[in-house]
Amino acid sequence: MAPKIIKRRGQVELSDLFKGFSKLNYQERLNKLHEAQILSVQDVNYLNSGGLQDVGLAEKFVENVIGYFQLPLGVATNFNIDGNDHVVPMAVEETSIIAAASKTAKWIRENGSIKTEVIGLNIIGQIQFAKVQNFDLFSEKIFQQKDYLISLANREVAFGLVARGGGVTDIKIRKLVRGDGYDMAVIHVYMNSCDAMGANVMNQVCEYLKDSLEQFTSEKVTMCILSNLVDSKLTRATVTLDQIDVGLALKIEEASRFAELDPYRAATSNKGVLNGIDPVLIATGNDWRAVEAGIHAYASKDGQYRTITKWRSVNSKLVGVFEAPVIVGTVGGVTTLHPSAKMNIKILGVKSANELSRIVAAVGLVQNLGALKALTTVGIIEGHMKLHIKNLSLGAGATDMEMPVVIKKLEEILTLRKRISLSNAIEVLTDLRNQTNH
Ligand code: MEV
Repeated sequence: MAPKIIKRRGQVELSDLFKGFSKLNYQERLNKLHEAQILSVQDVNYLNSGGLQDVGLAEKFVENVIGYFQLPLGVATNFNIDGNDHVVPMAVEETSIIAAASKTAKWIRENGSIKTEVIGLNIIGQIQFAKVQNFDLFSEKIFQQKDYLISLANREVAFGLVARGGGVTDIKIRKLVRGDGYDMAVIHVYMNSCDAMGANVMNQVCEYLKDSLEQFTSEKVTMCILSNLVDSKLTRATVTLDQIDVGLALKIEEASRFAELDPYRAATSNKGVLNGIDPVLIATGNDWRAVEAGIHAYASKDGQYRTITKWRSVNSKLVGVFEAPVIVGTVGGVTTLHPSAKMNIKILGVKSANELSRIVAAVGLVQNLGALKALTTVGIIEGHMKLHIKNLSLGAGATDMEMPVVIKKLEEILTLRKRISLSNAIEVLTDLRNQTNH
């Protein structure tokens, strides 16, 4: 019988694929993804052979290479974002993140929606003049040459982006008061980087403009670099749960208010959001440090570090919003060169950097909802530790044969004592081996 073709995201829902996916074994998962035309035969062979082995490629990325560090790669299921189904690849070591993302996405899929958008086009580059003699005169000179500087940058450096509909679009000047009688001037260069993350082109643009700027202003450039606080290009994801127990919705709202008011809680809440975001960034070869820096800076935009998400119970619905810069690329750098990143972009089925950014934001918001739901109901230990028990059993040295018995015993201990540790696992394993030897 010919394999059943499950059409891809956007055409027909992937709900057939998502059903029971977590119960499959490794080989069955690969087969199912292949049947759904999400993995090609080459992808399956690549994964079965252990992924990237070519150290020569690593030599192209970094220095002093001694090998690869491999993270587990899984897929989160049940995501329907803006009406399209997505299988979401996540590279991450932390137990229960992928399970929680899939479970929460299912809850939303059955009771609500995820909507996303990108607001703004431009990334930002900064050119610093540490001390300017006369800021007003400086601004006037730059302003007079603004159009020329933009066209120069586009003609000499960003021409590839211009050909794709992007390039440098604006130049602005900011004054930073030093308090020592001088003003610091900072030029912001705005650029549409299309489907690239844009760091390299932006840094080149800023450095290229340095000579002309110094010539026009008779002032000295101190340094040039892009900014990760890209408040000119924000990604927003909104989750609406139309059907939800009102008591639960109110508890989630209170958990959100806690993180909105208290930086100690905001840091942990945002860590939960990044539990969803970073694994997708890593899986797709994106610079997760840049996105993290941007998110944390944006979370502090009013002077206090706050949560990057907000949840409210509105007319018996629950509405959650994530809004922050999520600057990613689908072309260039590791995204294009690393075979796993290329495969993962294909698994996601994204066609543009903006689409990837919207999915990343959605996964972060969904992950946050999963954590808040657990924290305000059963607590984090239950879901987390039950899965963690498997790791503890492995850590204690249990073999495949011993695993089921050790796991069962540890689950009993967890239910009874509400806590569990590696020493419990070692004790249980030692007892089991002693019993077997008698
Ligand atoms: C743990 O990795 C993440 C959480 O701490 C997030 C949160 O507290 O919201 C559970």
